[in-house]
Parts: sequence; structure tokens; C-alpha cells
Amino acid sequence: MPHTPGSKRAQPHIPLNDGTTMPQMGLGVWQTPAGETAAIVRHAVAAGYLAVDTAAIYGNEEGVGEGLAGRPDIYVTTKIRNDEQGYDTTLRAFDASLRRLRRERLDLYLIHWPKPAEGRFVETWKAMVALRQEGRVKSIGVSNFRAEDLARIIDATGVVPAVNQIELHPRFQQRALRAVNEAHGIRTESWSPLGQGRVLDDPVIAKIAGKHGRTAAQVIIRWHIDSGLIVIPKSATPKRLDENIAVFDFALDAEDMQQIAGLDRADGRIGPDPSTY
Ligand SMILES: NC(=O)c1ccc[n+]([C@@H]2O[C@H](COP(=O)([O-])OP(=O)(O)OC[C@H]3O[C@@H](n4cnc5c(N)ncnc54)[C@H](OP(=O)(O)O)[C@@H]3O)[C@@H](O)[C@H]2O)c1
Repeated sequence: MPHTPGSKRAQPHIPLNDGTTMPQMGLGVWQTPAGETAAIVRHAVAAGYLAVDTAAIYGNEEGVGEGLAGRPDIYVTTKIRNDEQGYDTTLRAFDASLRRLRRERLDLYLIHWPKPAEGRFVETWKAMVALRQEGRVKSIGVSNFRAEDLARIIDATGVVPAVNQIELHPRFQQRALRAVNEAHGIRTESWSPLGQGRVLDDPVIAKIAGKHGRTAAQVIIRWHIDSGLIVIPKSATPKRLDENIAVFDFALDAEDMQQIAGLDRADGRIGPDPSTY
């Protein structure tokens, strides 16, 4: 039986290197249709979600803004589009995102992809540092950054990103990059935490789910939480939104964690490779 109650139990917040904190769990809205986003976000907040992860390229910032109207307490992350990277373009893109989100101040702004061949992420990072200095965004970070990309922006500005949001799920556990993030004091945030749904039918996960009387999705989300990762599963299905947030009244044991560790695959990446994308 899936557990759905209990979603409003105290949820962990993760301390960031800039002195702020962010909810460890949030709702991802990539591929959530723009016209449905406001209703889905409203449902999620009523179910107990404390954070939403969107991006300019998702085309649904307006829906997030509408769904969160009157809820400035809900933590919002958005990301700069690849084709808007650069110093001035970032400042303008930020203003447009804030307008669409109906916010005066953003919680977390990320560089969506490094696009290393285009060579604009250092300038983009400098603009993000300026936005934070002006107090228009609480925290700044990156997404899909490799060790060498992190080193470049830190060397250029002395400012360490608060978060690196990367593809991470039981079949692609990113241990090396997580260690690099940790060495810098950067928090790792897992995108496609359920492997876009593809890890849900794994027999090892199913066995652990059976043992705890939970669903596969709940076990995977709990694995991210027990691993100290920030996690942003997406669902556009109300019943699954309720199911996914109901993970704060159980924990995996050492044996479960060890078994899931064994699911890691060198070729487990689902999304694009940041080196070539
Ligand atoms: N920074 C980046 O480059 C980047 C890239 C990708 C994603 N992201 C972020 O990460 C978020 C999550 O990643 P994702 O959307 O790629 O994939 P995901 O969260 O790993 O998986 C979402 C898929 O799993 C299904 N699902 C969710 N809960 C379920 C449940 N309890 N039972 C069965 N199926 C379930 C969803 O279906 P339904 O929706 O139909 O319920 C959807 O098809 C995104 O929404 C986005 O915010 C960031």
C-alpha cells in the first residue's frame, strides 16, 4: 500500500555555502504543459511541497508564478536559457523571468548548461554575481557544470556556486562529480531523479519498496534524501504528486543503500552530455 498521508511532516532544509538554506525536496516542472502548470503547482503546494524548479526554456514560468501567487514563502528556482548567456543578456533575461514568476526577488538562479564550446559562461556567471550583490536573487548556482567549468568560474570571480544541479539517479550516481562539488562546498541537486521514470521498474528497487511497504518512486526519492542530495521529482499527476512527497516518515537502512549503490552504471546517462551539448 502506498503511503500518502504524512506529507506535512517537517521537511529537511539544506544549508548552502552563502548562509541561506533551501528545501531538500521540490517539484520539477520540465515538460509540464504551460496551461496546466498553475493547477499542478497549486496542488503540489497544498500537498506540502515547499519548492518548485523551473527554467526559462520550459515555457511555464508564468504558470509557476500564477500557481504560487500569494505564496512568496515557496522556494523558486529558475535557469537562464543557453541562448541568453552573456553579461547584459543575463541581466535582461533575469528581469523577464522575475516578471513571469511574479516575484520581486528570486530564491535561486542557475546557469542551465555550460555550453563550453560557446565560451560565455564566465561572463554569465559575473552577471549572476552582480544580481546577487544587488539582492535581487538570494542564491546563485549552476547546472550541468563539469569539474573544469566549476574551476573556471571560481578562478575568474572567487565566487563559489551554491548548487550544481546535475543528472543523478540510481543508474547514474555521479560519484566523482559529487566529490568535486563537495570539495568546493557546492550542494549537489539531482535532476531526473527517477531516471525520467525508467528506474521505477528496477527489481532491486521493487524489493526494497516491498520491504518498507512503499512505492518504487518513494524509495528512490528517499535514496536521494538519505544521500544528502537536493531532489526535484516531476509529476503532472495529482496522485503521484501526493505519493512523491510522502517520504518524510521513513528511511532506508544501510543494506538498502548498499543495494542501490550497486545499480550505478557508467553508461547510465539519459540526458545530454554537458561536454558536447
Ligand atoms: N538542469 C537540467 O538540465 C535539467 C534537466 C532535466 C530535468 N531537470 C529538472 O529535474 C526535474 C525532474 O526531472 P525529469 O522531469 O526529467 O524526470 P523525473 O522526475 O526523473 O521523472 C518524471 C517522470 O516520472 C513519472 N513519475 C513521477 N512520479 C511518479 C510516480 N510516483 N509513479 C510513476 N511515475 C512517476 C512522471 O510522470 P507524470 O508526470 O506523467 O506523472 C514523469 O514521466 C525536471 O522536471 C526539471 O525541473 C533539469
